[in-house]
Amino acid sequence: MSSVKITIRKNGPYRVEAPEGTIELVDAEGNKYDLTGKPAFSLCRCGGSVNKPFCDGAHSKIGFQGAELAVKKADLGTPDVPQA
Ligand code: FES
Repeated sequence: MSSVKITIRKNGPYRVEAPEGTIELVDAEGNKYDLTGKPAFSLCRCGGSVNKPFCDGAHSKIGFQGAELAVKKADLGTPDVPQA
């Protein structure tokens, strides 16, 4: 039995792990991404990657904060304002 595991990385991407060949990733037109030899990959969650939909590490350079952290800050009265 195969299984897919998706981990939300703190202030980072969605890490997808699945046995090779068991997951299909397609773009908006239905074109498949070649995942050959990739039993794990990371999907960009910050919007800053130049290699979307994959993470390229830009999240750490732009100071991306995951939504769960932004909500906690808003609850404390310190709204999350992006730094220039
Ligand atoms: S989450 Fe890593 S570049 Fe966007």
